[in-house]
Amino acid sequence: MNSKADKYSIETVNESIYDHPKYYDLVFGADCAAEVKFILGCSDQYMQRPPKKFFEPACGTGRLLYALAKRGHNVAGLDLNPKAVDFCNARFDRHGVEAKAFVADMSDFRVPHRHDIAFNTINSFRHLQTEKAAREHLSCMGQAIRVGGLYLLGVHLTPTEVAPSETESWSARRGHLSINTHMWTKERKKGSRIERFGIQFDVHSPTKSFRIVDELVLRSYKPRQMDRLITSSGCWENVATYNFSYQLDDPIEVDAATEDVVYVLRRTRD
Ligand SMILES: C[S@@+](CC[C@H](N)C(=O)[O-])C[C@H]1O[C@@H](n2cnc3c(N)ncnc32)[C@H](O)[C@@H]1O
Repeated sequence: MNSKADKYSIETVNESIYDHPKYYDLVFGADCAAEVKFILGCSDQYMQRPPKKFFEPACGTGRLLYALAKRGHNVAGLDLNPKAVDFCNARFDRHGVEAKAFVADMSDFRVPHRHDIAFNTINSFRHLQTEKAAREHLSCMGQAIRVGGLYLLGVHLTPTEVAPSETESWSARRGHLSINTHMWTKERKKGSRIERFGIQFDVHSPTKSFRIVDELVLRSYKPRQMDRLITSSGCWENVATYNFSYQLDDPIEVDAATEDVVYVLRRTRD
């Protein structure tokens, strides 16, 4: 749906940000280097042999898979959004990467062989809206990763001792394209695990400017709820926790004030 409220307002479309992979890739691409360094650093630190096969559930545009493939790693991924998967595979093709992402639900999939390490760094896991779906995801991931392999799971937790952050804004630029992103809490109901966030991309190029407005519906996790979920999976143990600054030499203790966490999960024997 398009709207133009008055002559000074920016043209607005209400669409999924995930249906705009080119813009998504720019908005979320900035931190790639830090994330890739962290993924490879975790494999050095927490695995007994170097990983050969990397896997990303909810890979989106495959920004991280592509960065790893460029370094010569064998990668694979899945995403629910066909436009994101097409974008990801088109980039693989353009650069001669022999990998294919596929369309699937991260709580209901199987892969033909096991991988050594998986990652899901920026909160995508919270798109799964029920405890059942979250459990099924950890179970599918248990089948996708070999015993002793890792799953790096990044989640923005709901702190229990301090007020959660309610807004976030950042900008990204590539060539003549620049995007200002704003995210805000729309609804956080007491007693409900479902939270609604508004997100908008203000897209500016030499030929046009417009705004994409979307709503993200995410399941919330307090630190203890996340711990219980991991323990009850029966196939993952939590070996370390970090925050989103990805400093391998600076692991964190999750407490009631913690928000951003990357769980380093190791695949146990069943
Ligand atoms: C925040 S993006 C992250 C993309 C990518 N992991 C990255 O780091 O850039 C969240 C992604 O989760 C995908 N997604 C949401 N629900 C999903 C599901 N049930 N199964 C697979 N992918 C899902 C969306 O299509 C979107 O591409």
